[in-house]
Amino acid sequence: MATLKVKQLKRIPAELTVPGDKSISHRSAMFAAMSKGRTVIEGFLDSEDCLSTVAAMEALGAQVEFLGEAEGLGKTKLAITGTGKDLKQPDAPIDCGNSGTTMRLLSGILAGQPFTSELIGDQSLSKRPMKRIADPLGEMGAQVEGQTEKICAPIRVTGGDLHPITYTLPVASAQVKSAVLLAGMFAPGKTSVIEPVPTRNHTERLMSHFGVKWLRDGDEITVYGGQEPRATDIVVPGDISSAAFWMVAAAATPGAHLTLKNVGLNDTRSGIISVLLRMGAKVTQSDVTSQGEPRGNLVIHGGELHNTVIGGSEIPNVIDELPILAVAGALARGATKIQDAAELRVKETDRIAAVAANLRLMGVNVTEFDDGMEIEGGATLKGATIPTFHDHRIAMAFSIAGLFAEGVTSIEGAECIATSYPGFEDDLATFTTGDGSANAISVTSNLPEARR
Ligand code: S3P
Repeated sequence: MATLKVKQLKRIPAELTVPGDKSISHRSAMFAAMSKGRTVIEGFLDSEDCLSTVAAMEALGAQVEFLGEAEGLGKTKLAITGTGKDLKQPDAPIDCGNSGTTMRLLSGILAGQPFTSELIGDQSLSKRPMKRIADPLGEMGAQVEGQTEKICAPIRVTGGDLHPITYTLPVASAQVKSAVLLAGMFAPGKTSVIEPVPTRNHTERLMSHFGVKWLRDGDEITVYGGQEPRATDIVVPGDISSAAFWMVAAAATPGAHLTLKNVGLNDTRSGIISVLLRMGAKVTQSDVTSQGEPRGNLVIHGGELHNTVIGGSEIPNVIDELPILAVAGALARGATKIQDAAELRVKETDRIAAVAANLRLMGVNVTEFDDGMEIEGGATLKGATIPTFHDHRIAMAFSIAGLFAEGVTSIEGAECIATSYPGFEDDLATFTTGDGSANAISVTSNLPEARR
């Protein structure tokens, strides 16, 4: 188990570039593998989660080439030559690792294949509910079988002749929406998903990018079946969910100016900007381009943060940022409330319980609710030994809390950071030493050399 020791904040660096977007990287590998021909993907996130998707698509017949030098930690260039929509039956179970996105989206694609596949995952993924995709894919004519009532992994997906459905999402989940839309590409006619609240729309944008016709009418998204994606090169922007950690560090530091370069600014993902503005930070954007996935530079100007309420239709837009926003709440004046976020309980770990427990370890008063928490801000944070529960976003959120705490904060089980942010420790060191030298954080143990 790796321990990341975090010292106090020394400075805010002038600029940082974060790794490629996880959600877009997963999807671009999947669409490339379902296209005939070769797609070059630049800025691809080479984290454990996305590499699980790449290996899965290889097992299903795609040819993958890693091209030349890595573009920097967390970004790589690869070429995927796809088979078209008819994939090859895999010889062995497909290992989705820690990645819910891999398991759920891939199930949508496998629902359209005339064979049975088995999908497995690590301990955390094997506890996450797959019933939410088994239900609609079952309605379409596929069979998804798994363990217990929650249909947990290992799961078996038996695909076949699908029929189109109109499905109203019972929970606001982009993964479920995407699984149904991907399966809809294999059904004749129109498959529609109605979403109660808008969720991230990367699947829809990538369908357009790869030439697959779909339309949106209010809260209903419809894909026309029988289309084959067309191989088209793509450049993945930086991940705003990774930028979020540095956004909060800078926002909570009066006088700070931090430029985060080339961050994805899709408005179904950028809710953290509105939350930080409400809390008193100033955020400006520059060099924004809006073709395909919008992207640009974000400049965070720090200030004295104050409390806010985060809830309602805003939740899906900040779902992955809620752990670090809870830390922002602890650093702010007043009580910050997070509500309507019960989905946090079924992420890589129960993120409501994990965040509340860890904030308490650092001396913060937190009241936990079924669907959120209230954080009493303004206390002096104390360095502590912090468990990560094998959840990358818990590890990184509490590394940022450690920057603002008295003494040293030890993040126990920091190896899970590799799930989404290779190079996080190096970027963190630029906040604790002033020059990026490694002695401000020490990683004991088994993180690969290149990721220390
Ligand atoms: C994701 C959707 C969200 C998010 C996850 C990535 C995606 O999950 O939390 O990290 O890429 O579609 P849900 O669909 O479960 O909300």
